[in-house]
Amino acid sequence: KAIVSASQKHGGVLALEDFANYRVIIRKPIQCFYRDFRVLTAPPPGSGVTVCEILSILNAYDLKKWGFHSAKSIHFAVEAMRRAFADRNTLLGDPAFVYNPIDRLLSPVYIRKVRSVISADKAGNSASMGIQASPMREKMNTTHYSIVDREGNAVSTTVTLNGFFGGKVIAGHTGFFLNNELDDFTLKPGVSNQFKLIQGKANVIAPNKRPLSSMSPTIVMKGNKLSMVLGAAGGPTIITAIVQTILHQIDFDMNINVAVNLPRYHMQWLPDLIYMEPFAFSADTQKVLKKMGYRLKL
Ligand code: DON
Repeated sequence: KAIVSASQKHGGVLALEDFANYRVIIRKPIQCFYRDFRVLTAPPPGSGVTVCEILSILNAYDLKKWGFHSAKSIHFAVEAMRRAFADRNTLLGDPAFVYNPIDRLLSPVYIRKVRSVISADKAGNSASMGIQASPMREKMNTTHYSIVDREGNAVSTTVTLNGFFGGKVIAGHTGFFLNNELDDFTLKPGVSNQFKLIQGKANVIAPNKRPLSSMSPTIVMKGNKLSMVLGAAGGPTIITAIVQTILHQIDFDMNINVAVNLPRYHMQWLPDLIYMEPFAFSADTQKVLKKMGYRLKL
C-alpha cells in the first residue's frame, strides 16, 4: 500500500492489483561447462545464457597461459562479450513473450562459428556484425502485415515487388518502384525462375494473364473465433512458412512467437531436396532423413 500511494502521489501507475497479481516463477537453470566445472545459472529473463555464451566461447582458449589481463586474453574475452551481448540485446527477453533461442546460442556448432570469426590480432567491429536492434528493416521486395481490431476483424495482406527493388525503376515522380513480377510466370515451361520454381503450361506467360504467386495471406479461425492471421515474404517459402507456423501452433501447442521464430524447412517439388534453416533438424534427425533417401541443403 505504501508503494502504491508513493507511486500515485508522484504520478506513477502502480496499483494494488499489480502486487496481488505478481507470481514468482521457478525456472530450470541454464547449464554450461567451463574447463572442469559445471556452471548453473539464471535462465531468461536473467542473463545466464549470456554468461554461458561468453564462457563457452572462451573455453577453447588458454587464458592462463596468455596471462592475466594480457592484451591477448583481454582481446579474446572482449570479442566473446561483444558477440554474446549482440545476441542478448537482440534476441533475449521474457520467455512468456518471446522465443529465446537458448539451445542454438549455446550449441557447440554456433560457439565454434563465433570463434571462427574472431581475428587473432584485430578488434572486432560491432557496427559491421550484420546485427540490428529491432525494429527490423522492412524487406525491399515483399511486405506482409496482419491487423486485428478490437472487435476481432482481421486483415491479412501481402504485397510484393518480387525481386529486391522490383524492376529497379521508379516511374516519373510516383515515388514507388515498378515490380518485376513477370518472373512469377513460367517464361518457358520447364525452365526455372529466380526461386528455382519449375512450372508448367498453366502458369505460362500470356497477355492479360496474372502470374501465379506464392503469396498466401491467411486467416485461421476456430469456430467463429479468430485464431491466427498469417503471411510472409520469401517467394515459395511463403507457403511452407505459413504451413509450419500453423502446425507449430495447432499440433504442437506453441505460442505464436515460438511458432514464428523456430527454424523452418522447405520443399517445393523441384529441386528434389529439403532446404533447412540452421538448427531446424538435430544431427540425429538429419541422419535418419538421409537414410530415408532425402537430400538436405542448409
Ligand atoms: O508473388 C510471389 O510469389 C513472389 N513475387 C514473391 C516474392 C518474394 O516474396 C520475395 N521475397 N522475399
